Amino acid sequence: MPITAVDTRALHRVSCGLAELDRVLGGGLVPGSLVLVSGDPGIGKSTLLLQASMQIANAGGVVLYVSAEESPEQIRSRAVRLGPLSDHLLLLAETSLQAIVDQAERLRPQALVIDSIQTIASEELESPPGSLSQVREVAVRLMALAKGKGVTTLVIGHITKDGSIAGPKALEHLVDAVVFMEGEEHQIHRLLRTRKNRFGPTPEFGVLEMTEAGLRELANPSEVFLAQRPSGASGSVVIPILEGSRPLLVELQALVAVPGAPIPRRVFNGLDSGRGALLLAVLEKRLGLHVSACDVYVNVVGGVKVEETAADLGLAAAVLSSAKNLPLDPGLTVFGEIGLAGEVRAVPMAEQRLQEAARLGLSHCLLPQHNLDRAQPAFSSLKITGLRNLEDLARELEPRCKT
Ligand code: TYD
Ligand code: MG
Repeated sequence: MPITAVDTRALHRVSCGLAELDRVLGGGLVPGSLVLVSGDPGIGKSTLLLQASMQIANAGGVVLYVSAEESPEQIRSRAVRLGPLSDHLLLLAETSLQAIVDQAERLRPQALVIDSIQTIASEELESPPGSLSQVREVAVRLMALAKGKGVTTLVIGHITKDGSIAGPKALEHLVDAVVFMEGEEHQIHRLLRTRKNRFGPTPEFGVLEMTEAGLRELANPSEVFLAQRPSGASGSVVIPILEGSRPLLVELQALVAVPGAPIPRRVFNGLDSGRGALLLAVLEKRLGLHVSACDVYVNVVGGVKVEETAADLGLAAAVLSSAKNLPLDPGLTVFGEIGLAGEVRAVPMAEQRLQEAARLGLSHCLLPQHNLDRAQPAFSSLKITGLRNLEDLARELEPRCKT
């Protein structure tokens, strides 16, 4: 077929009624796609997809919500808190893959929700629900349904720590898109991020909050993430991270402490521990900071998981501040990658990070000089300083540290 003859109308997307979920999907659900929504148990996956189902149903589309985890009574009692009920939302309590596929083929719903893949099983296989072979079989069969009959399908998959049960990892290559739901159970923020999306431009990122009436959009995520920052405490610094195309300011905290045991402890919460260990070694070697004999705890506040090397400089600043017990200027923000020689390396999308820092009223940003060599952005309220190496960072922080 000539490429010019390909019909792109099939890509008309269906809104889930939740702007943040639409955003991470690349602008809504693509008809006939299979999306995996995964996250820790209790994080809010069922709530998210029930809300989306109710919105689609209230907009006139038929949704088949299959739950093997909760009874229809439980789902209804939860749903009444989330919004108005619609006859278009159909509940099915079923664990048999064949029965679910039969119903979906008969009803041809605008969306099919499976809660969860770990509880559904094919009668043709002997292995128990949740086993690798079952999870794969269910995914392959649902993909055939999505592609063959155009049934848009959303599948919940729990992230399981127990290696004997197949986690969503095994499914990633079988589905069109994977949306991760993250956060800490006892905090209100929930983050959505796509790690894979055949129909979306970039890895996208959304922020929600869990309320009494379900998940709600957050108008200004950076403000919320910084709301509880301690004032005048050492080891705390604001870092501008990029999630997909969206900048977000978060607080990074470090605590360098006298070791409590013969072997010093290293805890990295929200950051890769290998990267963290590497950066501590670079700080020790290049700045002579004796952290190898100390306990070091690092935390990204709000349950955000930072995967960018642009956070390196923030970690270095927080560790320096804690080790010297000198609070940093609360208006300071830092970003940049650190190399093994202690050099500060350029990172992508510096401009967007600076814009977010300026928007939130921060006063000073330390960033890689190499980023400034490419472009010299100017902000009236935000002072910008380029760094070439860790010595530059230490020098810049000294006068910013308040004694
Ligand atoms: P749930 O969607 O059941 O999580 P998952 O399907 O990922 O296991 O969400 C569970 C938590 O969400 C539960 O602790 C209660 C909370 N919650 C609210 O705070 N507000 C609400 O409106 C709802 C429905 C749930
Ligand atoms: Mg659930």
